[in-house]
Formats: sequence, C-alpha cells, structure tokens
Amino acid sequence: MTQEHYQRFLMAAVMGYPIMHSRSPMLHNYWFKRYGIEGTYVPMLIEPGKLEAALRALHPLGFSGCNLTIPHKQDAMTIVDEVDDVARSIGAISCVVVRPDGSLFGTNNDCYGYIESILEAVPAWKVDAGPVAVIGAGGGARAVVYGLLQKGARELRLVNRNRARAEELARQFGGPIHVVDWNDRTAALEGCAMLVNTTSQGMQGMAALDISLEKLPTSALVSDIVYIPKETALLAAARARGNPTVNGLGMLLHQARPAWGAWFGRDVEVTPELRAMMENSI
Ligand SMILES: NC(=O)c1ccc[n+]([C@@H]2O[C@H](COP(=O)([O-])OP(=O)(O)OC[C@H]3O[C@@H](n4cnc5c(N)ncnc54)[C@H](OP(=O)(O)O)[C@@H]3O)[C@@H](O)[C@H]2O)c1
Repeated sequence: MTQEHYQRFLMAAVMGYPIMHSRSPMLHNYWFKRYGIEGTYVPMLIEPGKLEAALRALHPLGFSGCNLTIPHKQDAMTIVDEVDDVARSIGAISCVVVRPDGSLFGTNNDCYGYIESILEAVPAWKVDAGPVAVIGAGGGARAVVYGLLQKGARELRLVNRNRARAEELARQFGGPIHVVDWNDRTAALEGCAMLVNTTSQGMQGMAALDISLEKLPTSALVSDIVYIPKETALLAAARARGNPTVNGLGMLLHQARPAWGAWFGRDVEVTPELRAMMENSI
C-alpha cells in the first residue's frame, strides 16, 4: 500500500435535534470546495439521550470533530474529556475537537464569531466607546456578553424579560454588568454606544423585539444576532433613524473559522462569495 491509501477524507459534522434547518453544512462544504480539499461536513440528527454515544463514535468513524446546536450545547459539558475556559464561562460547547488519542475537547467559538463580525463590519469599533445595552440572557447572550467583557466593555446594561436569568448571568460573569428591569428597557438605551439584541424576538415567525429606540443616540451601533431574516424589524428601525447596523450572519460565518484550525489545521476565509451564498439561502 502506498501512503495515499492512508490519506484521510476529512470529516466533521453538526449534531442537533432538529438539524435540517442548520446552515452549517452549506458553510463548511463551501470551504472544502473552495480549497479543493477532499472531505465533507454532515448534519446529524441526534436525539438528546444519544449525544454521548454519538460523540464517542466520532473518533472510530474518523471524524475530526463537530459543532453542536440546540439542544446539545449544555449537555456536552459533562460528556467531553476537557472543556476550555471560554466554554466553561459561557456554560456551553459549540465545537468539539477529536484529539489523536480519541479524547474529546470542547470549546465555544460563538463569542469569537460575534466580536469578529462586529470588527469586520465596523473596523474602527471600540467596545469602550460608551455603555453597551444587551437585550436577552440566554445562550446567545452569554457568548456575546463574554466576548464584550473580554474586549474590555466598561459598562454593560443587561435587560432580560426574566430578570432572575439576567441576574444569574451577571453574578457568574462579574465585571461591569448592571441588570436593568425589562420595564425600563427603553430608558436603558440612553447614552449607549451600542445595542445588541440576543433574544429570539425578531426571528422569522416570532414577534419583533418590543423596544423603542427613542433614547438611543443615532451614532450607536445596533447589532442583532438573529440572521433570519437578514434585517430584523429592530435593525430596520435603527437603520431608518441613521444608526449603523450589523446583522447576525457574520457571527455565524466567523464562529466557523476557528473550528477549521482545530479540526484540520487550516485557516479559512469569509469571502464575499461565501457571504452572498449564505445570504441567498436565507
Ligand atoms: N448569529 C449566530 O451565530 C447566533 C448564535 C446563537 C444564537 N443566535 C440566535 O439568537 C437567538 C436566541 O438564541 P439563544 O440560543 O440565546 O436562545 P435561548 O437561550 O433560548 O434564549 C432566548 C432569549 O430570548 C428571550 N425571549 C424569548 N421570547 C421572548 C419574548 N417574547 N420577549 C422577550 N424576550 C424573549 C429569552 O428571555 P427569557 O429569559 O425571559 O425567556 C432569552 O433571553 C435565536 O434567534 C438564535 O437563532 C444566533
């Protein structure tokens, strides 16, 4: 047998339940094609109780790793062999790496993806330009807040419908987080340099986020991590009054890049062609 017989067809996956809505296969398979690499990225429908067996099967099957989506991100924390500080702080694993000895390493690239998406859209962005209002305290919020704090946010106003959830997040993360009551969300925007929606409000099939922008300076950057639709009602309202806006697609695109380094030892690029392909799929 020559060396070529032992070369690997590179494989990675995304595990979720449901899974067929995921845009990750389209994204990662673009990179296999663009770089002329023999490999594939497959969607795997994994029932909640079968996550451990599925993750342990990655190594014998020759997979380099996988992404995790709803409802597996938290459950994986107690399954993998090592969890890094980012995933531990966020409380969720978005990316599993299979190491050569078969052990599983869990990390979370969502906060990296979020910060990169903002810097890509607004290269001069400074997190400490003024207070940042974050709406929501779920999984997406945890990644965003972690990223903003790591970048050096000086004041973060955290507003969630369920206040206790925001308080728990603030307690765990520490730092300059001020929890604001849901009823005071409009007033919380006064003087802010940035507003982020991390709730599912505004997503296709859901009501728009119920917030007035009247107190928000028109110079404030407004970002929404929702990416279906491309422009949520919040972003449309912000754009109409002159605020710069960033949608959630960049977060999805950029969180995928570090996985390639960890799985396949390659750098990959978010090209205009990739972005257009993803936008056209929405
Ligand atoms: N761009 C990306 O790469 C990316 C990454 C992650 C998530 N996302 C998107 O972010 C959104 C949230 O995802 P997630 O994983 O954070 O979900 P999650 O953990 O279930 O959190 C949902 C959040 O939305 C809030 N919410 C739900 N219904 C609400 C309502 N009627 N009024 C006010 N607040 C409401 C929840 O508040 P309560 O605590 O009060 O229930 C909570 O803060 C989804 O649209 C998801 O697709 C995008």
